[in-house]
Amino acid sequence: ALFSGTAAAQSDYPTRPITVIVPFTAGGPTDTVARLVAEPMTRALGQQVIIENVGGAGGTLGARRVATADPDGYTLLLHHIGQATSASLYRKLSYSPAKDFAGIGLITDVPMTIISRADFPATSIKELIETIKTKKQDITLANAGVGAVSHLCGMLLQSALGVQVTTVPYKGTGPAMTDILGSQVDILCDQTTNTTGHIGTGKVKAFAVTTKERLKTLPNLPTMDESGVKGFEVVAWHGLYAPKGTPKPIVDKLAAALQGALKDEKVIARLADLGAEPVSQEAATPAALDKYLADEIAKWKPVIESAGVYAD
Ligand code: MLT
Repeated sequence: ALFSGTAAAQSDYPTRPITVIVPFTAGGPTDTVARLVAEPMTRALGQQVIIENVGGAGGTLGARRVATADPDGYTLLLHHIGQATSASLYRKLSYSPAKDFAGIGLITDVPMTIISRADFPATSIKELIETIKTKKQDITLANAGVGAVSHLCGMLLQSALGVQVTTVPYKGTGPAMTDILGSQVDILCDQTTNTTGHIGTGKVKAFAVTTKERLKTLPNLPTMDESGVKGFEVVAWHGLYAPKGTPKPIVDKLAAALQGALKDEKVIARLADLGAEPVSQEAATPAALDKYLADEIAKWKPVIESAGVYAD
């Protein structure tokens, strides 16, 4: 043949379905973002973009799967801020979030909300804080494992209030939400992509948002900062990654498809309903994600070290 197999594979790409690993359970917040962008990306690439949920260990099981996958553009990772925090939360990670991936682009920033089971005895963020401080370990706080953004938010909350509660880990906040709805656990800090609908129907109690400003979609919820927990801010930013070593033409083709997806009217409208919006076209690029990931790893390292929370 005149062309090497690799060059031909790059120009023909994609010739078969592409798998996007979501490192949390189906039906949860990361899965919601992934399925939203997969549809227009499928149309743009002319091949099915399939979501595979690989939950467990706060997102690190799914991330490791992609870190060690063939760098051929057929196995990708859609992960959030946990890609940055897991680098510091785990002292013995069998892959490197900083070195084993080729960023494709940032996707969206998702705000978070602090919620409880509907029958929890607190009616405001101030009462919730008082109850947590009084009941301490009698309070159960759900999260999606060490490395999940729900874990990060819960860790920051406990450290800000100076108390330890009892944490209950799940493989995603999808199943954590099921237990909040069933009143099996007390509280959860979770993304608006998972909580907005349940807050709207009153099936959970919502107390505050974790963003600097209040949200248009949930205007009655105060920020943590205005509730007295100064400087409290967590935003679940999302990125799309290929394994390191994926040929640049393939990464660029995927970035172009991602940029197209983020201009899609349906994607924009659905994200808006859920309190989020797509990043700018300039941010949906390999260079922007690689830089943002490095900055976020550096930002969270001292925070995690001072909280002293690690997983082995
Ligand atoms: C999920 O999809 O389950 C979440 O993103 C979990 C989390 O990080 O809290």
